[in-house]
Amino acid sequence: MCGIAGYVGSKNAVEVAYDQLKRLEYRGYDSAGIAMQTPDGIRVVKKAGTLNHLRAELDAHPLEASCAIGHSRWATHGGPTDANAHPHFDFDQTIAVLHNGIIENYLELRDELVAKGHTFRSQTDTEIAAHVIGLEYSQGGSLLEAVRRAVKRFRGAYALVIISNRESETIVAVRQASPLVVGLGEGENLLASDIPALLPYTREVIALEEGHLVELTRDRVRLVDADGRELPIVSKHIDWDVESAERGGYDHFMRKEIHEQPQVIRQCLAGRITPEDGVRLEGTFSDNVWAEIDRVNIIACGTAYHAGLMGKHLFEKLLRLPTDVYYASEFRYGDPVLSQKSLAIFVSQSGETADTLAALKLCKKNRIRTLGIVNVVGSSIARECDRTIATQAGPEISVASTKAYTAQVIVLSLLALHIAQVQETPGLRVEEWAQALRDLPELASQVLELEDEVISIAEKLVDMPLCFFLGRGADAYVGYEGALKLKEVAYIPTQESPAGEMKHGPLALVEEGVVSVFGATEPFTFDKVVSNMKEVQARAGTVLGITCDSTGTIAKAADLTLMFSPSRFDFLNALLSVIPMQLLAYHLARLRGCSIDQPRNLAKSVTVE
Ligand code: AGP
Repeated sequence: MCGIAGYVGSKNAVEVAYDQLKRLEYRGYDSAGIAMQTPDGIRVVKKAGTLNHLRAELDAHPLEASCAIGHSRWATHGGPTDANAHPHFDFDQTIAVLHNGIIENYLELRDELVAKGHTFRSQTDTEIAAHVIGLEYSQGGSLLEAVRRAVKRFRGAYALVIISNRESETIVAVRQASPLVVGLGEGENLLASDIPALLPYTREVIALEEGHLVELTRDRVRLVDADGRELPIVSKHIDWDVESAERGGYDHFMRKEIHEQPQVIRQCLAGRITPEDGVRLEGTFSDNVWAEIDRVNIIACGTAYHAGLMGKHLFEKLLRLPTDVYYASEFRYGDPVLSQKSLAIFVSQSGETADTLAALKLCKKNRIRTLGIVNVVGSSIARECDRTIATQAGPEISVASTKAYTAQVIVLSLLALHIAQVQETPGLRVEEWAQALRDLPELASQVLELEDEVISIAEKLVDMPLCFFLGRGADAYVGYEGALKLKEVAYIPTQESPAGEMKHGPLALVEEGVVSVFGATEPFTFDKVVSNMKEVQARAGTVLGITCDSTGTIAKAADLTLMFSPSRFDFLNALLSVIPMQLLAYHLARLRGCSIDQPRNLAKSVTVE
């Protein structure tokens, strides 16, 4: 999500750290900062906005240092402001800390620190972490030991990098579920969140493992595990060019982002499911507002619209809350019926989509409560909505949205459970839902293991002239998203439809060579789905079933099947079924030689109407 840089050696560490951050710009960010060791203690220079803003600040106060750490932030807790930018000091400015990831229990830790009289300059979980580490460090011992003790109190995903004004030319870092790499140089050593920031200086790289800590000086790298045991230094020679390094070794950002989804689900859930298995959504409306809401309108475009359909399915099924989903471009000209007790939810990855923003302004003019579900925290839609929930999916580079869709559906699920808790919806098993959501990243990883089977199916279907995406209930909605992916990147015509609608017209399009992809994850619909499959096959159509049905009912009826292990909730199985559809679209586009990350005619953010 964010960029991390660090250097200790004979070069000007401030300029090296800045250069490293420049090489991580492609990841997206909304503020940046550098901390450096100087004879007068640690200096921190940080600014909201692009690196140019930081550059201007650095030029206004030129500084030399032999040890510096840098960070480019993708806002999650707290907006993109100078105060929220990293690095952050501890209570007495003995240490400076920067961080990637989310400290889930930061609110509990903050309460403890406030009780001890601590005050804070920012709204970030990182500053809380800095104070916890600083307190440990004040007990004596090395910075490495203080960090090792402190992180035992953190829950969540984090890569933390720390310097102190007591240990000259020393950088300490720790990795837990958020990547960190160390670069070994001659008389210098570096670290970064991502390999591209190391390559101009060294190709000898160590990828930190879970829970491991590292201490860097210019001549030495020490690795220890969470118990403080010394570990051997084993580096890997990286022969990627810079461009493929930016894609993490993947050929395209789209495939990288499809494979990031297990981690994205974890990030999206981080801090939002309590230890007691409840849901805790910060920064939304107060409970009395949720108790009053009697209708929800979800407004979005494209993939975000498809995520909204999944929200409708859940709000109506779980909460019995009437929910409509509108294309933003239609909503704003459709003179919609709006009630003061309704809630308008705007789903948007970029937060800059012109149609969605216009619909938002129409709702605000009518004094309708507005909630954003947005990936880019500092974006226009995020700022304009009364409340905003960040999807925390990290920057999505590929025009075809994949991980953002999954994160949007996860946030809508959390919102449904949050409302259910407030409205005390009878018979809702929030604890079971919370556990099922916790289990989802592992299930998503297992679905990704189907990729080789998807590739062999894509090779069979590469010349299909038309592809249906069919399903019932949530499976129909996921099919709409699968169809959009295939259109967008492989330029294959698609026809998406509820399976039951086929005989009302679309069936006329079925003939030999036409393929129908059926999502089938809701057992009570399987009999009807099998009938629809036979309808298609009777007209020489080919059927691909994407299912978690272990009874074999679907696999027996389909010509081709992709089978995955189920979650305990059908709705989450429908969501998991989007992953094979994303992979199918990607590999068909690859086989057809399409421009995958920048498809023809399309833009990542449609800021025109
Ligand atoms: C999805 O793959 C497309 N890139 C497009 O439909 C996109 O979802 C739509 O333009 C909405 O974008 P937003 O989520 O940034 O508002």
